[in-house]
Amino acid sequence: MTFPLVRMRRLRRNQLLRDMVAETALTCNDFIYPMFVCPGQKLRQPVPSMPGVDRFSVDTLVEECKKVRDLGIPAVMLFGIPEKKDPLGRGAYDEKGIVPQAVRALKKAVPGLLVMCDVCLCEYTDHGHCGILDKKTVHNDATLELLAKAALAYAKAGCDMVAPSDMMDGRVIEIRETLDNEGFEDLPIMSYAAKYCSAFYGPFRDAADSSPQFGDRRSYQMDPRNVIEGMREVALDIEEGADIVMVKPAMPYLDVLTRVREEYDLPVAAYQVSGEYAMLKAAAEKGWLDHDAVMMESLYAIKRAGADMILTYFAKDAAKQLAGGK
Ligand code: PBG
Repeated sequence: MTFPLVRMRRLRRNQLLRDMVAETALTCNDFIYPMFVCPGQKLRQPVPSMPGVDRFSVDTLVEECKKVRDLGIPAVMLFGIPEKKDPLGRGAYDEKGIVPQAVRALKKAVPGLLVMCDVCLCEYTDHGHCGILDKKTVHNDATLELLAKAALAYAKAGCDMVAPSDMMDGRVIEIRETLDNEGFEDLPIMSYAAKYCSAFYGPFRDAADSSPQFGDRRSYQMDPRNVIEGMREVALDIEEGADIVMVKPAMPYLDVLTRVREEYDLPVAAYQVSGEYAMLKAAAEKGWLDHDAVMMESLYAIKRAGADMILTYFAKDAAKQLAGGK
């Protein structure tokens, strides 16, 4: 009998050895925590399809963000739920709107936390589409101006980064030029570059009450069957001045993430979206999966595939987990 010359198991024998040869590390610095802010006071409304996620009024958001920061999470991404929705999504670019209010409060009360703002119209339009309508389609070029106005309103409120998630063509350059013209040339843009038309956004649309009232988003978000197209989307956003590009969702699109990471030399973000979170939570609640184990495995997988940062609703849970050892 001959012995195996190579024994892969030698370096797997104990935790110290495994940690020594681990190829991927996660830290709190990798996380961006998405949060929902709504009008009112002292509110903290649970989102039923996203256990552990709430909609906060500005006052409770501030208190929660102090905890987020104290856990070592460097950044939050804000999504606004306006008082009123209308066809033009006015709440998105109202300088006194819910997101500018939240940004001002956070920048004042929570130093040491980056405040990033999602830029899109779908939470603010009564029809739920990501731009303004021309009959039954979203008008690309007319939407650009409004997105840029929204980005500018958040910049003026003092945010640290803007993140357009609408998937209109030319939004990054439009936002860049508007910001530059107004003296915000140093404000970075994280673009949702390869953003797929995904059924995994379902729970988010409950949270933001932003489901399209007719049709779907297939005429602007990407077809899940495509990866070459995603590379082109990323290339365009980089040409237009994006500082960070994002792939979204994360787990079902790890191949896209890896290709973007390999091809480009700027930071790449991945968004583990509401449906990815909801399915793991639901299975864990039923006792079918081990919550902490699948949470960490999913985050390591996203990091291993190439993400430099991860937007995840698990940020707080994962930060606690990392602080506690494993
Ligand atoms: C806004 C936006 C969406 C998400 C992030 N920004 C919803 C959508 O495109 O329908 C989804 C995030 C998630 O599911 O967690 N356009």
